[in-house]
Amino acid sequence: MYLKDKVALVTGAAQGIGKAFAQALLEKGCKVGLVDQNAELGKESKDNLDKQFDTQRTIFIPCDVSDEEQLKDAFKKIFDSFGRLDIVVNNAGINNEKNWEVTVQINLISMIRGTYIGLDYMKTENGGNGGAIVNISSLAGLMPVPYQPVYCASKHGVIGFTRSMAVNAL
Ligand SMILES: NC(=O)c1ccc[n+]([C@@H]2O[C@H](COP(=O)([O-])OP(=O)(O)OC[C@H]3O[C@@H](n4cnc5c(N)ncnc54)[C@H](O)[C@@H]3O)[C@@H](O)[C@H]2O)c1
Repeated sequence: MYLKDKVALVTGAAQGIGKAFAQALLEKGCKVGLVDQNAELGKESKDNLDKQFDTQRTIFIPCDVSDEEQLKDAFKKIFDSFGRLDIVVNNAGINNEKNWEVTVQINLISMIRGTYIGLDYMKTENGGNGGAIVNISSLAGLMPVPYQPVYCASKHGVIGFTRSMAVNAL
């Protein structure tokens, strides 16, 4: 995919792998909507990126991806700001066996929702330009993980869902 001037939405972009995704996409010429529930770290991340890239090429949207309305609103704000959407990276994830419902909600349900909302914006039938959706799983999505059954189940779910959706896209 030719990335110059394409628009990407990355969840969990305030730190870690999401932040690295944003940096890599900016280096390739993309504009990036940074989505994260950690507003302080998200703003700090944008400030750091602004030292390297034109400030107009990123926007930070504070958002809890497990909240449907907040997630829809984040997509809308990024689409409205940049005028298009080409790439979605559903990266936000947690590993919390105690609050296991929340782990499933963020790692799996929000990833599915982010995929469907992304398709609504990008599919050509809706006037979009097509695009790419990247869903972040883990080695835990491919093998059992002792003492982390819920994280493991959520990441298996990411792989099952994404592989199945990819067949639809062929
Ligand atoms: N770090 C690893 O070794 C590793 C390995 C395999 C897979 N992964 C996966 O990669 C992804 C990123 O991992 P990481 O290590 O960069 O994690 P991290 O904890 O460093 O960063 C995750 C980011 O997601 C954000 N986030 C968490 N819940 C959110 C929510 N509800 N709404 C919005 N933002 C939220 C956090 O604020 C944080 O900025 C996760 O899906 C994780 O499961 C990580």
